[in-house]
Amino acid sequence: MRRKLAAGNWKMNGTEATLSELAALQTPAEIDVLICPPNTLISRAASANDKIALGGQDCHRAQSGAHTGDISAEMLVDAGASYVLTGHSERRTDHGETNEIVAAKTRAAWSQNLVAVVCIGETLAEREAGTTLEVIAQQLAGSVPEDATAQNTVIAYEPVWAIGTGLVPTLEQIAEVHDFLRSELSKRFGAEIAEGIRLLYGGSVKPSNAESIFATSNVDGALVGGASLKADDFNGIISALASA
Ligand code: 13P
Repeated sequence: MRRKLAAGNWKMNGTEATLSELAALQTPAEIDVLICPPNTLISRAASANDKIALGGQDCHRAQSGAHTGDISAEMLVDAGASYVLTGHSERRTDHGETNEIVAAKTRAAWSQNLVAVVCIGETLAEREAGTTLEVIAQQLAGSVPEDATAQNTVIAYEPVWAIGTGLVPTLEQIAEVHDFLRSELSKRFGAEIAEGIRLLYGGSVKPSNAESIFATSNVDGALVGGASLKADDFNGIISALASA
Protein backbone atom coordinates (compact mmCIF):
# COMPACT_ATOMS: atom_id res chain seq x y z
CA MET A 1 0.00 0.00 0.00
CA ARG A 2 1.26 3.45 -0.89
CA ARG A 3 1.19 5.94 1.95
CA LYS A 4 -0.72 9.03 0.89
CA LEU A 5 1.09 12.37 0.78
CA ALA A 6 -0.31 15.89 1.12
CA ALA A 7 2.46 18.25 -0.01
CA GLY A 8 2.46 22.04 0.10
CA ASN A 9 4.75 24.18 -2.03
CA TRP A 10 4.94 27.68 -0.61
CA LYS A 11 7.00 28.93 -3.58
CA MET A 12 8.40 32.45 -2.89
CA ASN A 13 5.98 33.12 -0.04
CA GLY A 14 6.40 33.10 3.71
CA THR A 15 8.14 34.94 6.52
CA GLU A 16 8.36 34.46 10.27
CA ALA A 17 4.68 35.48 10.57
CA THR A 18 3.60 32.60 8.30
CA LEU A 19 4.94 29.98 10.71
CA SER A 20 1.71 30.19 12.73
CA GLU A 21 -0.03 28.57 9.72
CA LEU A 22 2.36 25.63 10.00
CA ALA A 23 1.70 25.25 13.68
CA ALA A 24 -2.04 25.01 12.93
CA LEU A 25 -1.73 22.15 10.42
CA GLN A 26 -3.32 18.79 11.18
CA THR A 27 -1.18 15.70 10.84
CA PRO A 28 -3.44 12.63 10.71
CA ALA A 29 -1.49 9.46 11.49
CA GLU A 30 -2.59 7.66 8.31
CA ILE A 31 -0.98 10.10 5.81
CA ASP A 32 2.26 12.06 5.34
CA VAL A 33 2.13 15.86 5.37
CA LEU A 34 4.96 17.77 3.72
CA ILE A 35 5.59 21.50 3.44
CA CYS A 36 8.25 22.98 1.16
CA PRO A 37 8.70 26.49 2.55
CA PRO A 38 11.28 28.97 1.27
CA ASN A 39 14.79 27.94 2.34
CA THR A 40 14.95 30.77 4.85
CA LEU A 41 12.18 29.13 6.89
CA ILE A 42 13.13 25.45 6.83
CA SER A 43 14.89 25.30 10.17
CA ARG A 44 12.33 27.53 11.90
CA ALA A 45 9.52 25.46 10.36
CA ALA A 46 10.92 22.38 12.09
CA SER A 47 10.42 24.08 15.45
CA ALA A 48 6.94 25.36 14.52
CA ASN A 49 5.54 21.88 13.82
CA ASP A 50 7.66 18.80 14.35
CA LYS A 51 5.05 16.42 12.91
CA ILE A 52 5.24 17.61 9.32
CA ALA A 53 8.00 16.68 6.91
CA LEU A 54 9.92 19.56 5.35
CA GLY A 55 11.34 19.92 1.89
CA GLY A 56 13.29 22.28 -0.30
CA GLN A 57 11.84 23.60 -3.56
CA ASP A 58 15.04 23.04 -5.54
CA CYS A 59 18.65 21.98 -5.05
CA HIS A 60 21.81 22.41 -7.08
CA ARG A 61 23.23 19.44 -8.96
CA ALA A 62 26.66 19.96 -7.39
CA GLN A 63 27.50 19.13 -3.79
CA SER A 64 29.10 22.50 -3.05
CA GLY A 65 31.15 25.18 -4.71
CA ALA A 66 31.04 28.46 -6.60
CA HIS A 67 27.31 28.75 -7.33
CA THR A 68 26.20 32.07 -5.88
CA GLY A 69 22.64 32.05 -4.58
CA ASP A 70 22.11 28.31 -4.97
CA ILE A 71 21.51 25.70 -2.30
CA SER A 72 22.84 22.14 -2.11
CA ALA A 73 21.01 19.00 -1.10
CA GLU A 74 23.36 18.67 1.87
CA MET A 75 22.38 22.17 3.07
CA LEU A 76 18.69 21.28 2.85
CA VAL A 77 19.27 18.21 4.99
CA ASP A 78 21.29 20.29 7.43
CA ALA A 79 18.34 22.71 7.74
CA GLY A 80 15.93 19.87 8.51
CA ALA A 81 14.55 18.81 5.11
CA SER A 82 13.84 15.23 4.11
CA TYR A 83 12.35 15.96 0.67
CA VAL A 84 13.11 18.28 -2.25
CA LEU A 85 11.11 19.23 -5.33
CA THR A 86 13.00 18.82 -8.59
CA GLY A 87 11.92 20.09 -11.99
CA HIS A 88 8.98 22.22 -10.91
CA SER A 89 7.58 23.91 -14.02
CA GLU A 90 8.47 27.33 -12.61
CA ARG A 91 12.11 26.19 -12.36
CA ARG A 92 11.95 24.75 -15.86
CA THR A 93 10.52 28.05 -17.19
CA ASP A 94 12.25 30.68 -15.03
CA HIS A 95 15.65 28.97 -14.91
CA GLY A 96 15.74 26.98 -18.14
CA GLU A 97 15.95 23.63 -16.38
CA THR A 98 16.00 20.77 -18.87
CA ASN A 99 15.17 17.14 -18.14
CA GLU A 100 18.91 16.47 -17.97
CA ILE A 101 19.42 19.14 -15.31
CA VAL A 102 16.41 17.86 -13.37
CA ALA A 103 17.84 14.33 -13.46
CA ALA A 104 21.18 15.61 -12.14
CA LYS A 105 19.41 17.47 -9.33
CA THR A 106 17.42 14.35 -8.51
CA ARG A 107 20.66 12.37 -8.25
CA ALA A 108 22.11 15.08 -6.00
CA ALA A 109 19.02 14.80 -3.78
CA TRP A 110 19.34 11.01 -3.55
CA SER A 111 23.03 11.29 -2.69
CA GLN A 112 21.96 13.04 0.53
CA ASN A 113 19.05 10.66 1.17
CA LEU A 114 16.46 13.26 0.29
CA VAL A 115 13.24 12.04 -1.29
CA ALA A 116 12.95 13.75 -4.69
CA VAL A 117 9.51 14.92 -5.76
CA VAL A 118 10.08 15.04 -9.51
CA CYS A 119 7.61 17.39 -11.23
CA ILE A 120 6.37 16.98 -14.79
CA GLY A 121 3.44 18.33 -16.80
CA GLU A 122 2.35 19.54 -20.20
CA THR A 123 1.65 23.11 -21.34
CA LEU A 124 -1.75 24.16 -22.67
CA ALA A 125 -0.38 24.18 -26.24
CA GLU A 126 0.84 20.60 -25.79
CA ARG A 127 -2.51 19.48 -24.31
CA GLU A 128 -4.37 21.13 -27.21
CA ALA A 129 -2.04 19.56 -29.75
CA GLY A 130 -2.88 16.14 -28.29
CA THR A 131 0.72 15.44 -27.27
CA THR A 132 0.23 15.27 -23.48
CA LEU A 133 1.20 11.62 -23.01
CA GLU A 134 4.17 11.97 -25.32
CA VAL A 135 5.45 15.00 -23.39
CA ILE A 136 4.86 13.30 -20.05
CA ALA A 137 6.70 10.17 -21.21
CA GLN A 138 9.69 12.22 -22.35
CA GLN A 139 9.83 14.21 -19.12
CA LEU A 140 9.51 11.08 -17.01
CA ALA A 141 12.21 9.25 -18.95
CA GLY A 142 14.55 12.25 -18.97
CA SER A 143 14.05 13.57 -15.44
CA VAL A 144 13.97 10.37 -13.38
CA PRO A 145 17.35 8.61 -13.22
CA GLU A 146 17.87 4.84 -13.27
CA ASP A 147 18.07 4.23 -9.53
CA ALA A 148 14.55 5.37 -8.66
CA THR A 149 12.83 3.45 -5.87
CA ALA A 150 9.54 3.78 -4.03
CA GLN A 151 11.52 5.22 -1.11
CA ASN A 152 13.57 7.87 -2.90
CA THR A 153 11.11 9.14 -5.51
CA VAL A 154 7.65 10.71 -5.75
CA ILE A 155 6.28 11.91 -9.08
CA ALA A 156 4.11 15.03 -9.22
CA TYR A 157 1.95 15.52 -12.31
CA GLU A 158 1.31 19.25 -12.61
CA PRO A 159 -0.20 20.44 -15.89
CA VAL A 160 1.41 23.86 -16.42
CA TRP A 161 -1.92 25.37 -17.45
CA ALA A 162 -3.57 24.29 -14.18
CA ILE A 163 -0.98 25.89 -11.90
CA GLY A 164 -2.33 28.97 -10.15
CA THR A 165 -5.10 29.40 -12.73
CA GLY A 166 -8.13 27.79 -11.08
CA LEU A 167 -8.32 25.48 -14.11
CA VAL A 168 -8.27 21.76 -13.34
CA PRO A 169 -8.21 18.86 -15.81
CA THR A 170 -11.25 16.60 -15.79
CA LEU A 171 -11.01 13.58 -13.52
CA GLU A 172 -10.80 11.44 -16.67
CA GLN A 173 -7.80 13.46 -17.86
CA ILE A 174 -6.09 13.11 -14.47
CA ALA A 175 -6.79 9.36 -14.41
CA GLU A 176 -5.48 8.96 -17.95
CA VAL A 177 -2.14 10.59 -17.09
CA HIS A 178 -1.76 8.87 -13.71
CA ASP A 179 -2.57 5.42 -15.13
CA PHE A 180 -0.12 6.11 -17.94
CA LEU A 181 2.59 7.17 -15.45
CA ARG A 182 2.10 3.98 -13.44
CA SER A 183 2.45 1.86 -16.54
CA GLU A 184 5.51 3.76 -17.82
CA LEU A 185 7.17 3.36 -14.41
CA SER A 186 6.35 -0.33 -14.47
CA LYS A 187 7.91 -0.81 -17.92
CA ARG A 188 11.08 0.90 -16.83
CA PHE A 189 11.53 -0.10 -13.19
CA GLY A 190 9.40 -3.23 -12.88
CA ALA A 191 5.99 -3.67 -11.30
CA GLU A 192 7.16 -3.81 -7.70
CA ILE A 193 8.97 -0.46 -7.72
CA ALA A 194 6.27 1.15 -9.90
CA GLU A 195 3.52 0.05 -7.52
CA GLY A 196 5.31 1.71 -4.62
CA ILE A 197 6.09 5.11 -6.17
CA ARG A 198 3.60 7.75 -5.09
CA LEU A 199 1.96 9.86 -7.80
CA LEU A 200 0.73 13.31 -6.79
CA TYR A 201 -1.58 15.57 -8.75
CA GLY A 202 -0.86 19.32 -8.62
CA GLY A 203 -2.56 22.39 -10.10
CA SER A 204 -5.37 24.40 -8.47
CA VAL A 205 -6.15 21.78 -5.82
CA LYS A 206 -8.56 23.28 -3.26
CA PRO A 207 -10.57 21.89 -0.34
CA SER A 208 -13.62 21.95 -2.66
CA ASN A 209 -12.13 19.71 -5.38
CA ALA A 210 -9.75 17.60 -3.28
CA GLU A 211 -12.14 14.78 -2.46
CA SER A 212 -12.96 13.98 -6.09
CA ILE A 213 -9.30 14.26 -7.17
CA PHE A 214 -8.25 11.90 -4.37
CA ALA A 215 -10.86 9.38 -5.47
CA THR A 216 -9.27 9.28 -8.94
CA SER A 217 -7.29 6.30 -10.19
CA ASN A 218 -3.61 6.25 -9.18
CA VAL A 219 -3.73 9.59 -7.35
CA ASP A 220 -1.78 9.16 -4.09
CA GLY A 221 -1.98 12.75 -2.91
CA ALA A 222 -1.47 16.31 -4.06
CA LEU A 223 1.18 18.97 -4.53
CA VAL A 224 -0.56 22.18 -3.54
CA GLY A 225 0.56 25.77 -4.11
CA GLY A 226 -1.81 28.59 -3.16
CA ALA A 227 -4.09 26.52 -0.95
CA SER A 228 -1.15 25.33 1.18
CA LEU A 229 -0.42 28.84 2.46
CA LYS A 230 -3.39 29.01 4.83
CA ALA A 231 -3.86 26.30 7.44
CA ASP A 232 -7.66 26.40 7.05
CA ASP A 233 -7.41 25.58 3.34
CA PHE A 234 -4.63 23.02 3.61
CA ASN A 235 -6.32 21.31 6.55
CA GLY A 236 -9.37 20.80 4.31
CA ILE A 237 -7.15 19.08 1.75
CA ILE A 238 -5.35 17.06 4.44
CA SER A 239 -8.59 15.74 5.88
CA ALA A 240 -9.95 14.91 2.41
CA LEU A 241 -6.81 12.84 1.80
CA ALA A 242 -6.89 11.16 5.20
CA SER A 243 -10.44 9.98 4.55
CA ALA A 244 -9.89 9.05 0.87
P1 13P B 1 -1.44 25.93 -7.24
O1 13P B 1 -1.97 24.93 -6.26
O2 13P B 1 -1.35 27.31 -6.68
O3 13P B 1 -2.14 25.85 -8.56
O4 13P B 1 0.10 25.53 -7.52
C1 13P B 1 0.41 24.22 -7.84
C2 13P B 1 1.88 24.06 -7.79
O5 13P B 1 2.60 24.56 -8.63
C3 13P B 1 2.45 23.28 -6.68
O6 13P B 1 3.78 22.98 -6.90
